[in-house]
Amino acid sequence: MNGPFPPHDPGHVPVMLAEVMEYLAPHDGGRYVDGTFGGGGYARAILAARDCQLWGIDRDPAAIARGAALAPAFPDARGGSRLHLLHGGFADMADLLAGDGVTTVDGIVLDLGVSSYQIDEAERGFSFRMDGPLDMRMNDTGPTAADVVNTLPENELADIIYHYGEERLSRRVARAIVAARAEAPLLRTSQLADVVRSVVRPDRSGIDPATRTFQGLRIHVNDELGQITRVLEQAPRLLAPGGRLVVVSFHSLEDRLVKQAMSRAAGRMPAPSRHDPRAMTARAAPADFRLLTGRPIRPGDDETRRNPRARSARLRAMECIAPSSIPASEPAE
Ligand SMILES: C[S@@+](CC[C@H](N)C(=O)[O-])C[C@H]1O[C@@H](n2cnc3c(N)ncnc32)[C@H](O)[C@@H]1O
Repeated sequence: MNGPFPPHDPGHVPVMLAEVMEYLAPHDGGRYVDGTFGGGGYARAILAARDCQLWGIDRDPAAIARGAALAPAFPDARGGSRLHLLHGGFADMADLLAGDGVTTVDGIVLDLGVSSYQIDEAERGFSFRMDGPLDMRMNDTGPTAADVVNTLPENELADIIYHYGEERLSRRVARAIVAARAEAPLLRTSQLADVVRSVVRPDRSGIDPATRTFQGLRIHVNDELGQITRVLEQAPRLLAPGGRLVVVSFHSLEDRLVKQAMSRAAGRMPAPSRHDPRAMTARAAPADFRLLTGRPIRPGDDETRRNPRARSARLRAMECIAPSSIPASEPAE
């Protein structure tokens, strides 16, 4: 089972796959979690490399349905599959795994953000390049991006676009959205993109002016930073000694959360203040982890040439070096 990586699903090219495999270092008999199953690129490589079990989690029902078709390719000795699929947010990882009787694992990998499947399907509403309904939900529940842009007050919209989209001209964009929706609700991605482009000029980078506003709304609609914060609290509790957490992130907001959580787990940062009420219930295990990556690992030039989506990727990893002092069954908060 040690052969080269199996061919990936053409719908999504896995980012930094060789590096993910190197840092996760799966072994025979191990139990692994891919918290962002997507097109199954990482999952397939892990299952093909080792005689191990893998739980694939995704909040997108379409990803889980694709994974179901893959399961028979990885049979176990008892006629079942070594690939187990769980539909849900990775913020609920501990509960999802507990539902399958799993309380500790040997590795967890997260590849944050959206898949090419999601971006390339106009109907999902993630792309400003294609016209589609203004949706942007990875799951199929909760408010859509259209609900957000048509109902939130101008200042809240501006804050979302500023903080999550890192758009300097967020106030101007929010004002334009509110003016446009007074004429007619914004229901299509092309409508929103045109509103943004009418007030933000392209800069020299060549990036579409709608990019940052779309990113901000997507992060808000899917509570992406809240999900990451919660999984980073749970992952250390789930890892067995020697177990590894590997995270690939795509922008600074994600990477900052990953860097802080890993530094804290490795005892490199002060624990939260005793006066912070969350610190009263959360017991930290500062010396139980070691960082495997000081600085984040970046993709090689070859990969970014072949797959421009990899350009902004950063990989961080840590390893559990002591038995967890926190029982996996204890609530995260
Ligand atoms: C970048 S893709 C992963 C691609 C995968 N590594 C591969 O090689 O095919 C991200 C996937 O994670 C899922 N996702 C994003 N946030 C999630 C969350 N909070 N919980 C569960 N799945 C999530 C998305 O629906 C998407 O399918």
